[in-house]
Amino acid sequence: MLRLRGVSKTFGGLRAVQGVSLEVQPGEILAVIGPNGAGKSTLLNLISGLLSADSGRIEFLGQDLTHAAPEVRAWRGLGRAFQIVQPFPEMSVRENLMVGALYGTPGTSVQAARKVVERVLELSGLAGKAQHPAGELSLLEDKRLELARALATQPKLLLLDEVMAGLRPAEAQDAVRLVRSIRDSGVSVLFIEHLMPVVRALADRVVVLDYGQVIAEGRYAEVAENPKVREAYLGRGA
Ligand SMILES: Nc1ncnc2c1ncn2[C@@H]1O[C@H](COP(=O)(O)OP(=O)(O)OP(=O)(O)O)[C@@H](O)[C@H]1O
Ligand SMILES: [Mg+2]
Repeated sequence: MLRLRGVSKTFGGLRAVQGVSLEVQPGEILAVIGPNGAGKSTLLNLISGLLSADSGRIEFLGQDLTHAAPEVRAWRGLGRAFQIVQPFPEMSVRENLMVGALYGTPGTSVQAARKVVERVLELSGLAGKAQHPAGELSLLEDKRLELARALATQPKLLLLDEVMAGLRPAEAQDAVRLVRSIRDSGVSVLFIEHLMPVVRALADRVVVLDYGQVIAEGRYAEVAENPKVREAYLGRGA
């Protein structure tokens, strides 16, 4: 459903992403891993449209979105959750999700958006906190809200950048279950993650970036055994 061909991005002289090609299949959970500075977040920003690619092509559901604005990509079904969660703190959890629901699908009626929000509240385990001010949630609930906000935009492919960062292992397991149930609800997932147990538990397939290039791709077990991958991590003490 997502296809990247030779996508590159340079910052000044730094080639952050170099000729990356990859695909996400419908219903798939794809992990993108790699050492610090490998270009993972840049790649996600190129897909979601926060950054514009210098060269290459990004297709989503058969359409060329290489130079489309972020909101156009969101409307087409690319949903994005961020590592740094920035809800509207004085608004309730439900109101924050309404913003996502109304933003994500142009022309949505308030009534239709309410339905989406109630479904997302259930799926994300936040139904009990619907009336709560978003600024007064725990870290775990914050992460759930960020996922829920992205889901409220009704994505077909969800892009996640280290959404588990800072969670304790038991909480991360909870989040793993949540991402699985999101996939089971029909949403594909592309996620960046440093926590290898999470990658092993979630990913159908793993793409490894190093210095902006894909150095390996395959199932977790294959990739973990790959000498190039081991060297990339060991070489930089990660
Ligand atoms: N806006 C920017 N301007 C200049 N350089 C940038 C910018 N964004 C990222 N970079 C550089 O591009 C490279 C890739 O950064 P990126 O954030 O994509 O890596 P990452 O794989 O997400 O790393 P981490 O695991 O630490 O999050 C790094 O060298 C980074 O310093
Ligand atoms: Mg990053």
